[in-house]
Amino acid sequence: MSDTLSFKGRVVIVTGAGGGLGKVYALEFAKRGAKVVVNDLGGTLGGAGSDSKAADVVVEQIKREYNGEAVANYDSVNGANAANIVKTAVDAFGRVDVLVNNAGILRDASFAKMDAQQFASVVDVHLNGAYKLTKAAWPYMRDQKFGRIINTASPAGLFGNFGQANYAAAKMGLVGLAETLAKEGYKYNILVNSIAPLARSRMTENVLPPHILKELGPEKIAPLVLYLTHESTKVTNSIFELAAGYYGQTRWERSAGQIFNPNEKSFTPESILNKWDSITDFKDKPFNKVEHPSQLADYNTLTAKAKQLPQENDQGKIKISS
Ligand code: NAI
Repeated sequence: MSDTLSFKGRVVIVTGAGGGLGKVYALEFAKRGAKVVVNDLGGTLGGAGSDSKAADVVVEQIKREYNGEAVANYDSVNGANAANIVKTAVDAFGRVDVLVNNAGILRDASFAKMDAQQFASVVDVHLNGAYKLTKAAWPYMRDQKFGRIINTASPAGLFGNFGQANYAAAKMGLVGLAETLAKEGYKYNILVNSIAPLARSRMTENVLPPHILKELGPEKIAPLVLYLTHESTKVTNSIFELAAGYYGQTRWERSAGQIFNPNEKSFTPESILNKWDSITDFKDKPFNKVEHPSQLADYNTLTAKAKQLPQENDQGKIKISS
């Protein structure tokens, strides 16, 4: 890899790039030579209203500070004209190489108080928005055999968070979408990853204490987004958590587990109870290892293994199943 990760000749779409993290990404891509579509609806944190100023300001800054090329787009990522965001890139710059699905809103409430509209609207912007953008960009990326996509997840999605059932469901949905697109896109050199950032923005400024916010500059998130979307990267199908300069990968872990013989009388809810510690033990076992699965095939392997492995009979003695 060269010392300088240039994006010269690349066309990048960043959704929700009128403020917060998206703005920082857009500026950084432009600084490195990319032609950028700065999409932003310009609404409130809750998704109300719209204002073309948000995207315009960033486009002007790109032109003024970096002598860069950028166009604004004000369409909603989940609206009827969402595909127009990709059309803006193609009309202005002839292609689309990188898509950062970043736009988002918050409508927090405890689950008991969250109505159907609060739930659906947040899922719609984050998840359906990413779907619509990706669906529109995908044919171009496939045809040119190059694409880089980032889905913006969240620790709230990976682990759950009080008051954010809508947001967490959308964010985990984005991880599943990315993991599937990574598989379908691989042979076309379309690489897809998820990030779960924590950064200072209007989303967090009223939630986190000032001394923490001070450390959470959004500029500390951008380096990974640029690395993952550069033509030299090989990384795909991965989830990264990052905040305040911390960068790490998060992955799935499957316990070594317990093999039951479905033909034994002992295969009952009580046997699950009795073996609960073993089922949930994250240490390697003699016949089965802890795994970090990243595709469905691993699960098939496990099922096949279960058929061949020594299994416990009613008395807890090991026997080899036929
Ligand atoms: P932000 O509110 O500053 O930025 C989101 C941008 O998306 C805004 O400029 C907004 O106008 C735009 N937007 C909202 N709905 C849109 C729509 N329908 N169409 C087009 N644009 C729309 O918030 P922030 O923090 O920069 O968030 C960026 C992304 O990062 C979001 O997906 C958020 O969920 C995610 N994230 C942020 C975290 C943080 O700590 N700031 C934590 C985890 C995830």
